[in-house]
Amino acid sequence: MELVKDAQIAKAIILSPDFETYSMANRYRELSRRTEMDFSAAVKLLEHLPVFIGGENHQRIRKVMAKQISRTKESQLAAVHQSLGDLFQHCFRPAAKIDLVADFAQPLWRSVSASIVPRDDKILDLVDEIPGLFSPILSIRERAKINEKIAAFLQSNFGAEDEDERLILLCLASLGARPFVGTLSLSLYEIFRSHPNLPMCEMSWPEAFPSSSLTYVDRMCQATTDYTDLKLETGDRVRCVTQSPSYSVDENRRALFGFGVHTCLGKSISERVWSLVTHRLSKSDLRGECVGIEMSPHDDPFKMPIKIEIRLH
Ligand code: HEM
Repeated sequence: MELVKDAQIAKAIILSPDFETYSMANRYRELSRRTEMDFSAAVKLLEHLPVFIGGENHQRIRKVMAKQISRTKESQLAAVHQSLGDLFQHCFRPAAKIDLVADFAQPLWRSVSASIVPRDDKILDLVDEIPGLFSPILSIRERAKINEKIAAFLQSNFGAEDEDERLILLCLASLGARPFVGTLSLSLYEIFRSHPNLPMCEMSWPEAFPSSSLTYVDRMCQATTDYTDLKLETGDRVRCVTQSPSYSVDENRRALFGFGVHTCLGKSISERVWSLVTHRLSKSDLRGECVGIEMSPHDDPFKMPIKIEIRLH
């Protein structure tokens, strides 16, 4: 696999018609053949995840997702306002210790995802577990468990009568889970860490997320191509780094939600949440002290915090 660590080349590859998305469904077909285990529910789901598909199927699924995002926009926002109100009332008090992942970003995410898929704990848990399928090191047993849960979901008729539509909604919410929770909590951590000893009302709050839990996207080369030092052949897998400390603030910001036909469909709600969160925090005279951060060792392609503790003074 080729690693592209240049912001301009990474963007050019993501936008180029000579590159396609990586097929995760084919990986599970192969795994099925190798292990003689049934991963057909996972394969079906992965064929509906727009980051792993292309062409007309991608366009069709993306359209249904965009419609659902716009149809549920008002209820997503109302849920976020409600959830933020509760969180600020209960968590943000002097001497409180908060886990920015479990006590803050995760409940906010639940309020958004419950507006996209039916408000049912089993489905919302599945939404959060599905990204585990993308990890290169998850055990086969864990993959099989997720496959079983997807199969059970397919047999239910939650949310929509039509299986295809039900799967699309599940995929939409699943693609938001880790980027939303990780990016929000890592960004807040980054700000508290870089402003020690300052009350929140005196900190400078950036307009965009300063940190992201999704730092690269993969593409497959479809034709021999040449980018100065980099020669690529048909079938080569390329990892395009989109977020890096070596890029400028502007380059990181522009690439945060991807480029072109696969640009993130959750961009608008995520940006809105960031501006609501930072607006409320910037009114507080509390000070956040970073106590510790624990990162997950196996959440590829996501850089996920398990726990981020801050103490308020
Ligand atoms: C701050 C939070 C988020 C970040 C940083 C983020 C980042 C990204 C990036 C970089 C991509 C492009 C992937 C690629 O080109 O292969 C993407 C795609 C996508 N995101 Fe997000 N995302 C976030 C939140 C969300 C949320 C909340 C949702 C759903 C409600 C969502 C749904 C999607 C979907 C459906 C796609 C696939 C689009 C396509 O392939 O056509 N994202 N996201």
